[in-house]
Amino acid sequence: MIDNHIEKAAQIIRNGGLVAFPTETVYGLGANALNPIAVAKIFELKERPSFDPLIVHIASIDNLKTLTQNVDKNVIRLTEKFWPGPLTIVLPKSKIVPDIVTSGLNTVGIRMPDNEIALKLIRAANCPIAAPSANKFGNLSPVSAEHVRKQLPNVESILDGGNTSVGIESTIVSIDGNVCTLLRPGVITISDIENALPNTFVFNAEKPDKLIAPGLLKSHYSPVKPLYIFDKQAMNLPESSGLIAHGKKDFIPTASKIIYTSKTFNYLEIAANLFSALHAMEDDENIKQIFIEPVPELGLGLAIMDRIKKAAYKYQ
Ligand code: TXA
Ligand code: MG
Repeated sequence: MIDNHIEKAAQIIRNGGLVAFPTETVYGLGANALNPIAVAKIFELKERPSFDPLIVHIASIDNLKTLTQNVDKNVIRLTEKFWPGPLTIVLPKSKIVPDIVTSGLNTVGIRMPDNEIALKLIRAANCPIAAPSANKFGNLSPVSAEHVRKQLPNVESILDGGNTSVGIESTIVSIDGNVCTLLRPGVITISDIENALPNTFVFNAEKPDKLIAPGLLKSHYSPVKPLYIFDKQAMNLPESSGLIAHGKKDFIPTASKIIYTSKTFNYLEIAANLFSALHAMEDDENIKQIFIEPVPELGLGLAIMDRIKKAAYKYQ
């Protein structure tokens, strides 16, 4: 049945239309990456500023070579170690990549998602698929088909693959010889990259005053209700508060609604459930403001806190 849906969705992509589809990270809003008109529809539907470049999704390593330049040993190593998976690699683009995909940059971000539906869709469409997260610009990323429907009710086709497993967007790195730069943290951490590339310098590009990837904007991925990072000293939450916690505690403040992203403070679980918890609070009419527990910024905690801080930025 789903194969049938995938075939129809692939036809929509081939005809220049848009399809929302699951990946292991978040749902994407996809178009044929080689068709600039189709790609323009993504910006229109998302209300996305045109300066924000898109990630191109592929299902075969051959596509990496036709879409980019400088595929050297380090790049191959990363693809062997992490693809299919939640790692986007930014490389100089080849001529066939339309400017609208990269917003005029001479580099393009490529990844091979670790999701059967996504891979089948790319193969059936027979073209690379440019896809940002399938949300309105600046809003929460969708981790289920329902989340996509909520924000983008007019999308032509949504492939429903249930909840995504990773739950936060891919790690983004750019690579230039033996220098690798982390542009957006994700479940693949700096030390994972360092271990894969022993003779390479790995930098964290996050400098608050320098815009490298718009995903690094201080405010991004925000829910439509006030969100505050939970201060453990302030045990009395105001009325109609929702609390998102990450592990059972001895002492927990009273809140109208409590959602645990994990029972045991497991980082992979927290990442996987983070956006779902925010969506659930956003959808609950009885909740007026949301409090969220911080996590230590170590390993995957860096990516989790990155999303939490951006979501809460407006309210700090
Ligand atoms: O997990 C993901 O990466 C999801 C799924 C759908 O694959 N996609 C995603 O796309 O998060 P999006 O568009 O929401 O975020 C892509 C980020 C943007 O912040 C964009 O600026 C950055 O990637 N980016 C894309 N191409 C780039 C490039 N050439 N140089 C620097 N940053 C780039
Ligand atoms: Mg996004």
